[in-house]
Amino acid sequence: MDTLIPIINRLQEVFLTVGAEIIQLPQIVVVGSQSSGKSSVLESLVGRDFLPRGSGIVTRRPLVLQLVTVPPLAQREKQENGIKAEEWGTFLHCKKQIFTDFAEIRKEIEEETDRTTNNKGISPEPIHLKIYSPNVLNLTLVDLPGITKVPVGDQPEDIESQVQDMILSFISNPNSLILCVSPANSDLATSDALKLAREVDPDGRRTLLVVSKLDLMDAGTDALEVLLGRVIPVRLGIVGVVNRSQHDLNTSKSVADAWRDEQAFLQRHYPSVTSRAGSRYLARTLGRLLMHHIRDCLPELRARATSLTSQYQARLSGYGRPVDDPSTTLLHIVTKFASDYRDTIEGTARHIQTSELC
Ligand code: GDP
Ligand code: NA
Ligand code: MG
Repeated sequence: MDTLIPIINRLQEVFLTVGAEIIQLPQIVVVGSQSSGKSSVLESLVGRDFLPRGSGIVTRRPLVLQLVTVPPLAQREKQENGIKAEEWGTFLHCKKQIFTDFAEIRKEIEEETDRTTNNKGISPEPIHLKIYSPNVLNLTLVDLPGITKVPVGDQPEDIESQVQDMILSFISNPNSLILCVSPANSDLATSDALKLAREVDPDGRRTLLVVSKLDLMDAGTDALEVLLGRVIPVRLGIVGVVNRSQHDLNTSKSVADAWRDEQAFLQRHYPSVTSRAGSRYLARTLGRLLMHHIRDCLPELRARATSLTSQYQARLSGYGRPVDDPSTTLLHIVTKFASDYRDTIEGTARHIQTSELC
């Protein structure tokens, strides 16, 4: 992802200078039944501990997590930006507060969840969190409450359809990549996540399946057939992962240790697919999908730049005097960018091996 981060960020910079956020990366939305491991998967992608996780209904409001690339601290100090941390977070509901301690971020998510919901209730009102870091892509990830059938606590009778509506409102956005999370120890054929994804993405063009809890399968059963796509084929791919268990959470196992143990588990139990499984591979797969998305966007970007140009030209002739035309510059930049980077982008898409999402 070393190559992907600067390319995408440069493109976005170009478009932001003309006030148009033309290139919109897909937002990645996790969907799955309750406690399937959605929050764990997102955390593993970001590589930091900051999301509330655990058994039962923990995620009770959507969390819209916007990752924002910033220069490394060493370069930022010269600009006297004032924030003396490499990575930090802010919330929309308390904009002025800077969170440099990720444990505090998790605490704030929990407290903010409780402010609008009570006793296991859910709310469609999203919590907006931004994480600034030199190691992330400008990308939005959405964590959602899990699909659940039976109301508990103060949950309404129609909890199932409420959660489904909430999920559908996010994944029906055609610019969402749907990350279905299904635990290996339950039947994939009954996966509610896949069922919902099919409703909005029948061709499977933007649905990826993550099979979690490979370590929790019953003795004598094996997820190999599932991982090979022989049970249910998923066009964009099926990636098996092992997240941290509840015991690992209780004993504060680090993300790095979790990745190492996951790799060892895969090598021991799924040697034939180890190179196509695991959290790091999932991150690389997402990176590759984003690359493809950008490549697919280039023709439209050029078309929009051309249309901007003619709009400006019409306006300019109305003024009746020659002015420097910023949109011509934009067209020029996009065209040059597309040709300069086409090789890089396609090359990278083919050769992404050591890169990661974040
Ligand atoms: P969510 O409700 O879908 O967001 O799921 P969480 O990420 O909160 O995880 C629910 C529970 O399952 C937690 O106790 C996690 O530790 C546990 N868990 C998630 N993924 C795995 C996994 O791959 N293996 C094991 N053993 N436990 C997992
Ligand atoms: Na949970
Ligand atoms: Mg969760």
